[in-house]
Amino acid sequence: MNIAVIGIGQIGGTIAQKLAQAGYNVSVANSKGVDGVRDFADKIGAKACDLDTVGVGADVLILSLPTPAIADLPKSLWQGLSPDCVVVDTANYYPEFRDKPIDEIDNGMAESVWVSSVVGRDVVKAFNMLLAHSLANLGKNPDRKDRLAMWVAGNDEPAKGRVMTLVEQCGFAPLDGGDLAGSWRQQPNSAGYCCDYTAHELRQSRANSTQTPTSVRQNRAYAIAELPNMTEGDFSHENVIRANRILNV
Ligand SMILES: NC(=O)c1ccc[n+]([C@@H]2O[C@H](COP(=O)([O-])OP(=O)(O)OC[C@H]3O[C@@H](n4cnc5c(N)ncnc54)[C@H](OP(=O)(O)O)[C@@H]3O)[C@@H](O)[C@H]2O)c1
Repeated sequence: MNIAVIGIGQIGGTIAQKLAQAGYNVSVANSKGVDGVRDFADKIGAKACDLDTVGVGADVLILSLPTPAIADLPKSLWQGLSPDCVVVDTANYYPEFRDKPIDEIDNGMAESVWVSSVVGRDVVKAFNMLLAHSLANLGKNPDRKDRLAMWVAGNDEPAKGRVMTLVEQCGFAPLDGGDLAGSWRQQPNSAGYCCDYTAHELRQSRANSTQTPTSVRQNRAYAIAELPNMTEGDFSHENVIRANRILNV
């Protein structure tokens, strides 16, 4: 299977590396052209590309960049993509400290529904609800009961299944998160978001949650204000996870 990854930062870079190690043909690109990704590609055994060519021949295209930047990806990328290629959105929208405001999302549209609308393709939302440290370091074999899990949401079942296989290959338990419109349930500060939960714990947290799309957004604002106090300014992984488990219910 051919995998294309746009964005080789903490999330995209880790996914690209894990999938290359698992034996997939991986191509990578960012905004800096083929020379901007060559060193990284050589290091992980992937192919360095520019944005025009990275998707050519891809079975899966993983978008791992800030949400607003997805709208600016070149038309040539989408023109070169096979209709059968599955597009994955790993992004989380953080207007408070990174992203320019997106009115549709601010008015209640699920983040990945917006992404789907701007790229003109169906997308699968995955890899967005584990912190970079967890994704890189806490993957485990399927037989481990303490294996961490993540939701995978999308409208097309075979496409979702293809992505769930990749989640498995990266060392995590994929859980069917339902359709894309419902993917607000895995957005920042929804129940179980970035909590390092197992499949059982993640299902429980969703089942016990009374959140709505509006309350998830309100919870995000509350969490951003509270996190420094709750961690006493020590943003170690353990401290952040402890705070997230209190906040993201
Ligand atoms: N960090 C986490 O713990 C975490 C967890 C889950 C999900 N996420 C989400 O996953 C996405 C990636 O996060 P990250 O932490 O990996 O970010 P990151 O480390 O900042 O990496 C972002 C990558 O996107 C590339 N990029 C930015 N603008 C681009 C553009 N216009 N065209 C092409 N490439 C572009 C950057 O490369 P250049 O700028 O050099 O092009 C870089 O390789 C974000 O939406 C984030 O919210 C993050």
